[in-house]
Amino acid sequence: MEFYEVIKNRKSIRKYTAKKVPEDVLERILEAARWAPSWANRQCTRYVVVDDPALFPNIVSGIVVGWGAPMLIITCADPSNSGHKGGKDYYMLDAGISMEHLILAAAAEGLGTCWIGGMFDEDSVKRALDIPENMRVVAVTPLGYPEENPLKSLVGSAMRSAIRADSRKPITETVFRNKYGRQLK
Ligand SMILES: Cc1cc2nc3c(=O)[nH]c(=O)nc-3n(C[C@H](O)[C@H](O)[C@H](O)COP(=O)(O)O)c2cc1C
Repeated sequence: MEFYEVIKNRKSIRKYTAKKVPEDVLERILEAARWAPSWANRQCTRYVVVDDPALFPNIVSGIVVGWGAPMLIITCADPSNSGHKGGKDYYMLDAGISMEHLILAAAAEGLGTCWIGGMFDEDSVKRALDIPENMRVVAVTPLGYPEENPLKSLVGSAMRSAIRADSRKPITETVFRNKYGRQLK
């Protein structure tokens, strides 16, 4: 798929088929994540690929387990191996960029993902997967083949309208030229 098509077509997927992700596809996706930029090229991000469904309930909420993905990918990072400047911790960015490489590569392979920032308990995830104390769990994503239109698969109409996943703010509201607030054109 052409690059901009991948960007436009990617959507958070919240319903999956049981079809397994082939190892060669998984490897290409993880390779894309490996090439992400990072603070001073420290590469503080680590991934745990979980394909044992018995572990899923210890990692994500029941809602996410119910989405039926055959695999979860857990993104974690070592804050002490990234930058801290002006009150900002860059490990979150390092991990986020790398995760987005992974997510876009997955979309290019026809696979679905969904950033999960809130539907897991960090301590439980760490315990379930033997993640060392110094690591922070930044995000989780299911990985698998999408079952249906992602908008339809959102849990409940309230969530659907709250998330409004098909919309984005116009560029006139988000991009400025030379001075903050001055229109691009
Ligand atoms: C940092 C981050 C955390 C997120 N956490 C969750 C989450 O816990 N549960 C969920 O269903 N979606 C989560 N999402 C997905 C967003 O709701 C979704 O990206 C947004 O509504 C736009 O929809 P789209 O991804 O389909 O374009 C998260 C996304 C990001 C970037």
